[in-house]
Amino acid sequence: LERTFIAIKPDGVQRGLIAEIVSRFERKGFKLVAIKIVVPSKEFAQKHYHDLKERPFFNGLCDFLSSGPVVAMVWEGEGVIKYGRKLIGATDPQKSEPGTIRGDLAVVVGRNIIHGSDGPETAKDEIALWFSPSELVSYTSNAEKWIYEVN
Ligand code: GTP
Ligand code: MG
Repeated sequence: LERTFIAIKPDGVQRGLIAEIVSRFERKGFKLVAIKIVVPSKEFAQKHYHDLKERPFFNGLCDFLSSGPVVAMVWEGEGVIKYGRKLIGATDPQKSEPGTIRGDLAVVVGRNIIHGSDGPETAKDEIALWFSPSELVSYTSNAEKWIYEVN
């Protein structure tokens, strides 16, 4: 099954939104296969956001991501990469639909509380950057047969 990397940024952690965010993925039917809380170094943040290094906000973004605890997670499920981005909403919370995480819980682009991988390649790279293979837990949940059509 597909896996994606999701992180609650320091603003989401400081605002007490960990449970709210985890709950939205969990209730949807996605499965949590890795989770930890870490304060990334600035160098680590630069690696995570390397695609954006030419952007004017890159330095501030990396300072912010490394400014406090981040909850790093891997979620698994059919279509979780693309649908995870839907649950999160548009990058700019002013443009995120109500009902999405950023639409409901954030106001400005530089404090949009959550990150989600934007495709299969970045998901693979980000999972490998944030987690060692032994931190990923494969298991069957009893709910799966009620979430998927299995015989
Ligand atoms: P992530 O899931 O965090 O990767 O967001 P995204 O994929 O929706 O957007 P993108 O990868 O393009 O940008 C990464 C992060 O940079 C965003 O989540 C924002 O926090 C920040 N960002 C993007 N555009 C801007 C901007 O114009 N100004 C500022 N201050 N931050 C920005
Ligand atoms: Mg992105």
